[in-house]
This record gives sequence, C-alpha cells and structure tokens, in this order.
Amino acid sequence: MRVLLVGSGGREHALAWRIASSPALTDLHAAPGNPGIATLATCHPIAADDADGLLGLARSLAIDLVVVGPEAPLVAGVADTLRHAGISVFGPSAAAARIEGSKRFAKEVMAAAGVPTAALLDVPRAPCVVKADGLAAGKGVLVCRTNVELEAGLDAAREFHGAVLVEELLEGSELSILAVCDGAGALPLAPARDFKRAYDGDEGPNTGGMGSFAPVPGIDGHALSGLLETCIQPVLDELALRGTPFVGTLFAGLMLTADGPRVLEYNCRFGDPETQSVLPLVEGDLLGALAAAASGSLGAISLGRVEGAAVTVVLAAGDYPEASDRGTPIDGVADAEATGALVFQAGTALHDGRLVTNGGRLLGVTATGPTVAAARGRAYAAADLVRIPGARRREDIALAAAAAA
Ligand code: AMP
Ligand code: GLY
Repeated sequence: MRVLLVGSGGREHALAWRIASSPALTDLHAAPGNPGIATLATCHPIAADDADGLLGLARSLAIDLVVVGPEAPLVAGVADTLRHAGISVFGPSAAAARIEGSKRFAKEVMAAAGVPTAALLDVPRAPCVVKADGLAAGKGVLVCRTNVELEAGLDAAREFHGAVLVEELLEGSELSILAVCDGAGALPLAPARDFKRAYDGDEGPNTGGMGSFAPVPGIDGHALSGLLETCIQPVLDELALRGTPFVGTLFAGLMLTADGPRVLEYNCRFGDPETQSVLPLVEGDLLGALAAAASGSLGAISLGRVEGAAVTVVLAAGDYPEASDRGTPIDGVADAEATGALVFQAGTALHDGRLVTNGGRLLGVTATGPTVAAARGRAYAAADLVRIPGARRREDIALAAAAAA
C-alpha cells in the first residue's frame, strides 16, 4: 500500500513511525512532514491545507490511502477534495469534522444523540468555562473561577472572532478516548490522559499539550466499552443519520465527574500528544485498521493492546504557549533514542544539516514500560539527554498515576 501522511507535528511523526512498521506498506510519503518524519518517509513541500496540491501529489504518486493528521485541513474539506477524486482517505469530511470545528455544532449533536455533556449557561456567571466556538489550537477555552476571570475570559474568547459559549465548570479527572471509526462503528485505542496546562501542578494557560500517558489506571476494558457506548457510538449514529458519516479518529475529551462521564469536546483526529503514548501500545496492524476504516469495513478488524504503559514528555520553547523558538540547536536526540525511547519531532527544522528548533512544542520523548512509573522514569531519563538551550518541560507528567500504581 502506498500511503501519503498529511501533517508535520509530533502526532504525525508517531503515525509515520507506526505506519512504517506495517507489513502492508510499500511506500510512505508525507506532506509536508518534518525532519523526524523524513527519516521514515519521503517528504514533499506541500502544505497540509493545500487540497489541490495534495490531490496532485496523491495522483502523481498513485497513493492508495491518505491519512490526514491535523484538524484544520479536515475542517477545511481536504478529505472531501481527495475523496471526490476517488482517493481513499482516513479522515472525516468537512461536514463530519464540524464536530471539532464548531463547539456549538458539537453541543447540538450531543443533545440530539443524548450524550452527557456540560450544561450551557444562558447567563455567564462564575464559576464557568468560556469557549470560543471555532478552532483555536487548544487555546480558546478559559476556565473562570471568579467574575474577574470571567470578564477576562470573555474578552479572550472574543479575540477568536466567532461565537462564544459559556458552560458549567465540571470537576473531576480528564480522559481522552481515541477511536478509529469507519462511519458506522468504532475501534477504541488505549485510554489516555494529556496535560494541557503549561506548568507543573496544572498551572498556567492551556496549551496544545505538554505530555501524556496511556493507559489510564482504572479504565479497564469494561469501562472503555461503556464509554464507547455513551460517548462515541451515539455521535457516529447521529452523524450517519444526518448523511455525514464520520470516517477517521473520533476523539472524545471527557471529564469523569462524580455524576458520571461528561464530554468536554470532540476532536476529529488523533490527539497530540496522546497519539505518541497510545500508538506504541497498539498490537497489530494499525495501517490495516486505518485502511479498513477508510473503506467502511472496520468490522473485520481487531487491534490488541501491548501490556504495560507509555509516557510522553514534551519539550517546548521556553515561552510556549505565548511564543515559539526558531533556530536554536537541538542535540542529544540520538542519545535519547539509544536508551530505547522514541523521540517524536514536532517543531524542528534542518539548517545546513543541523537539527534546530522551529515552533512551540519542539519534540516529545516517549518511553514504554511495564508500569506507568517505569515508563515515566525511562521517558524523563531519555528526555534528560536531549539538550535544547532555553527549552522547558513539565516535571510532573504522569506523576500522580505513577505514584498511585
Ligand atoms: P476543550 O478544548 O473543550 O477540551 O477544553 C480544553 C480544556 O479545558 C479541557 O481539557 C479541560 O481541562 C478544560 N475544560 C473544558 N471544558 C470544561 C468544563 N466544562 N469544565 C471544566 N473544565 C473544562
Ligand atoms: N491533546 C489534545 C488535543 O490533541 O487536542
């Protein structure tokens, strides 16, 4: 199978790594990719949202399957352009990707499908959560515990130039459920947790994600099936009923409250950095599952789960999420990899053959182990070997889960 992977982040590097090991793969291409992905695939300088460019590339390479990583091209309709031209795509249509592209649409689908979620507030009053309706790279959600925070939150959300939603503030622990979907059914991957806040102790602004681990202790197979039934399948059914079936990864961000699970949001693609922790735990042919999903035949496929756990620690620019970093040398990636850890590159570039920074989240270091504690120890030990002047990381990724086990 000739595969074209679209995107250039850590999630796509993890997808490339996993797809590259598939017995079904003959050729792996990426657009635009990054220096890490380039070690596994042939990269082409075509932007992830250049639908016509991607179509031309897919045609010229006789691609059998396009796997789209990021949300923005999906919401913009890249999968539709490819599919209309007869190319098989893992990734939802623009109509189905609205589940992520518009929080208001997601609320409406959840209501129609009977999915438990936070109640919308007609009159904003703290404590509450303010959300910009459209895509905001994980930065359009403001948790407001006081009225002063609420005023600031409303101002910040309006900066995104769309409608603003206000909903009840839920308390509990968060969980990411990623499910590979073929329009009708779903195959869940290991339940994961990401760390969205910038600083230790869940302080500071929301980011794209500073680390992750999987599986989440306490979510056994039975619990996962239950969550699939309450939070994933009803949305697949509702979107299919509307004539816009969801093909791709449906990712539910949940809050496990004292009153049961509540969906905070849906994403229309693999999570970043959840994917970096989830894919090393997949047993079986992920590419086969993605191809089956794209052709609507997931029913015949099953994927196993490797025993143990995986932890991912993100190294970010010193001022992330406010600012990114460009051109600072990155050293020690090979040393980290030599420990057996995986280094998934995100915001990196090559300057005269030298790896340098090129973004906010720079790279993620992932390690597996028999327990969360073991995987965590290995991930941090490997991350210690990566040297990027001025970069920072959180020190408490998976700390509570490691201590609890
Ligand atoms: P979202 O992009 O909607 O997942 O929101 C980003 C983050 O904001 C979530 O991962 C939660 O940490 C937080 N959040 C969103 N909605 C709520 C809510 N209703 N109650 C509490 N926290 C929330
Ligand atoms: N890690 C959360 C996301 O991918 O949106």
